[in-house]
Amino acid sequence: MLENVKLNLGQLVESDGYFWPIRELSIAVDAFHAISSALELGLFQCLQKPKNPQELARILNLHPGMTEKLCQALTSLGYLTKVEDCYILSEVARTFLIDTSPYYQGNLIRLLKRTQETRWRNLSKALKEGPIEVQAHQDVFDVNFSLAMAEGAVCGSLQKTIRVLRDLPQFQRAKRCLDLGGCHGLYALAFTMINPELSVVIFDLPNVINAVTTKVISGSERIAALAGDFNRDELGDGYDFIFASDVLYMPEAALKALLLKIKNSLNDGGLLISKHYHIDNLKEDSAAVLFDLMFAVTGGGNRIYSTSKFSHFLESCGFSVMRVEDIGNHVSRSKIVIAEKV
Ligand SMILES: C[S@@+](CC[C@H](N)C(=O)[O-])C[C@H]1O[C@@H](n2cnc3c(N)ncnc32)[C@H](O)[C@@H]1O
Repeated sequence: MLENVKLNLGQLVESDGYFWPIRELSIAVDAFHAISSALELGLFQCLQKPKNPQELARILNLHPGMTEKLCQALTSLGYLTKVEDCYILSEVARTFLIDTSPYYQGNLIRLLKRTQETRWRNLSKALKEGPIEVQAHQDVFDVNFSLAMAEGAVCGSLQKTIRVLRDLPQFQRAKRCLDLGGCHGLYALAFTMINPELSVVIFDLPNVINAVTTKVISGSERIAALAGDFNRDELGDGYDFIFASDVLYMPEAALKALLLKIKNSLNDGGLLISKHYHIDNLKEDSAAVLFDLMFAVTGGGNRIYSTSKFSHFLESCGFSVMRVEDIGNHVSRSKIVIAEKV
C-alpha cells in the first residue's frame, strides 16, 4: 500500500480523491453503540430531569469519567442537551428513547443490536463455511422481537398501510379479516378503528399470542386471537381479506403452500394484502438486499423475492394481482401487493 502511495504521491497530493462513505458508516456504528449502551444502562430514563455526570454516574452506578464522555458523545449526536454542567434529554430523545412515548424505539434498538451479534458477526464465517445455524427459527419471535416490530410499525409502515387501505372499497366493505402473523396487534387495532364494521382475527405463534397479543387486544371486542403455526395449522375461514405483513419470507415451496392455505381461507373475491420487502432494483432496494444477506448468514436461503416473482407465485396459487403500492423509503423497502382470489 505504502509503495503505491509513494509511487503516486505527486498526483495524490494534488487530487480531491477523498472517500468519505467508509468513515460515515463507521461513525454511524460508533453512534449506534453509544445510543444502545445509554439505553441499556437506563441513562435516557434518568436524564428526563437534568443531572451532572457525577450525579448520573452515582445513581446508575457507573464510572463518572466514562459517563461524562458518553454524555458528551450523546450531546454531539443531538440526543442530549447541555445546560451549564448538567445534561438533559433533547426533544428527539424524549420522543424516541423514553418508554412512555408512543414512538419509543428502545426494543427495536435492542433487536438491531442482537441481530448484529447473532447474525452479522458471523458473515465472514458463513462466507467461508456456509450458512450458520444460530437459533431455532421460532425462538427468534420473543417479546423483545414483537415489541420491536410494533416500534418499527409505528415509525411509518402502519401509517402508510392505513393510507393505502382506507381508500380501498373492498377494505371499507369488509366484515371479517385475518391478520396473519399479526403479533403486536397494532394493524388490527388500526383496521377496526377505520372500519367500524370489521372484526379481526390475529393469528400468531402461541408464545407471541400469550405474551404480547392478548395484552394489547384486551378490551377490543372486535379483535380475537388464534394461536397456531401457519405452516401446520388451519387459519380459519370466511375472511374478506387476509393481511400479511413481513411474514411471508420463506422458501418457495413453503410460500406456495401457505398462499394456497390463505386462498382457501378467503371468501370468493376476497383479498390478500401483502406487505413485504421486495428486491426489484439492487441499488434502490439496498435495505432489502442487506436484509436478504442477513437471512442468508443463518441459513435463510431465498426468502425475499422481486415483486414480479412474488406476483407470479400469487397467480400460480389462484390469485390475480390488482395493485402494487410502494410504501418504502431508503431504510424500509416495503411494497403492498393487493391480490384477489379468483
Ligand atoms: C416479522 S414479524 C411481523 C409482525 C407484524 N405482522 C408486523 O408487520 O409488524 C413476523 C410475525 O409472524 C409470526 N410467525 C412467524 N412464523 C410463524 C408461524 N409459523 N406461525 C404463526 N406465526 C408465525 C411471528 O411470531 C411474528 O409475530
